[in-house]
Amino acid sequence: MHAHLEQITRRQLPSTALGAALIGSEEEELLLDVIRRKEPFRYYGTNLETPPPMAAKLEEELCAYLDARYALAVCNGTSALEVALGALGIGSGDEVILPVWSWDSCFTSIMRSGATPVLAEIDQTLCLDPAEIPRLCTPRTKAVMIVHYQGVAADMEAIMAESRKAGIKVLEDCAESPGVTHQGQRVGTIGDIGIFSFQYAKSMTCGEGGAVVTNDPVLYERSVRMHDLGKMRPYHEGKVAVSVNRFCGGQYRMTELQAAVALAQLRKLETLRERCRRTQAIIMQRIGHLKHLQFRSIPDPIGDSGFEIYFWLEAPEQVGPFIELLEKWGVATLKGSGTTCHYNLEYCQSQPTLASGSSPFDAQQSWPAPGYQKTDFPKTEQLIHRFIAVPLGVLFTDEDADYIGRVICGIHDTLLT
Ligand SMILES: Cc1ncc(COP(=O)(O)O)c(C=O)c1O
Repeated sequence: MHAHLEQITRRQLPSTALGAALIGSEEEELLLDVIRRKEPFRYYGTNLETPPPMAAKLEEELCAYLDARYALAVCNGTSALEVALGALGIGSGDEVILPVWSWDSCFTSIMRSGATPVLAEIDQTLCLDPAEIPRLCTPRTKAVMIVHYQGVAADMEAIMAESRKAGIKVLEDCAESPGVTHQGQRVGTIGDIGIFSFQYAKSMTCGEGGAVVTNDPVLYERSVRMHDLGKMRPYHEGKVAVSVNRFCGGQYRMTELQAAVALAQLRKLETLRERCRRTQAIIMQRIGHLKHLQFRSIPDPIGDSGFEIYFWLEAPEQVGPFIELLEKWGVATLKGSGTTCHYNLEYCQSQPTLASGSSPFDAQQSWPAPGYQKTDFPKTEQLIHRFIAVPLGVLFTDEDADYIGRVICGIHDTLLT
């Protein structure tokens, strides 16, 4: 059926917020509990014998939800990455592979560990292309950082197979994909260590917050020490047989105030995922057959969180007019997600570091060096200029979904046929 755009009446859509849109009395109650007890610090409060419960409860419920052995709450997702890299023992002289298309802190956390970030192409999942692992591995490669981009798991089967073959560790960055599953397993528990972010834009939020998860007791102990000045407090000693000597960790602890809100949000995560998946399914039913759109490849469609629809147009010039019409009909597109190719960012172009002599790139004769220039990533460049991302907030109703589907069909038929 030919959809006529002009016959569709413009509809006011709700905000595209995720976890933040669900903040309510549950968060309020837990937060007030912390305030009333006057115990905002996780390791001790009014009673020195009994540590306050929120961060501990958050970790416990996160373990149960993810089916992970250990979880550690930290102050944000960027610290979680730095903690995880520290736990893996990554430092000067090591290389870590990461997708060229990912969030700033994926690159900066590796730089701050002293290791060299090695940029890899993405594929049509918008996550790291598994074939990049054998291509980029050198004897110095210690790990690969997988970014499960915006609610969809990377192709973990192929990635795990390539990583095990190469003998490198797998760090899963699940900041944008809490609760997402791949072959029935939650992301964050498939590789060696995983991280989450509870920043404002995420599926569960406490403004700033994060977590590190692992099934490995030594990685857990190293994470705990890394996040708390090298210490192992009694609470954590009760979780694991201590085997690591103290080292100079950072200070990345989560407060009880953050934990209270994050805990209430964790309890709403499955509801959020179900609602977003439902919205996505209704829209896809309407637009999935459209001839001139090509959709994001989702390695395990049963497990994604469905809060964003990605489709490619045939030519980059079609993107502007398509977005203009979406906006005219009140459908938001994701221009400001913050993701960009690292080679476009200052820290990659001019290699600024905190102190001279501290960059793994100091020895480079010229800059940007090979591997850090746009021309090194033809596959990624092919992918990132032709797609449109439509964010689907948790408050969207079935009628909203149906409307978005009809608008996309209408624009497709008006502009592309
Ligand atoms: C993929 C990815 N990794 C890491 C982070 C860092 O998390 P945070 O903002 O909590 O530091 C973010 C989020 O902003 C992200 O999207």
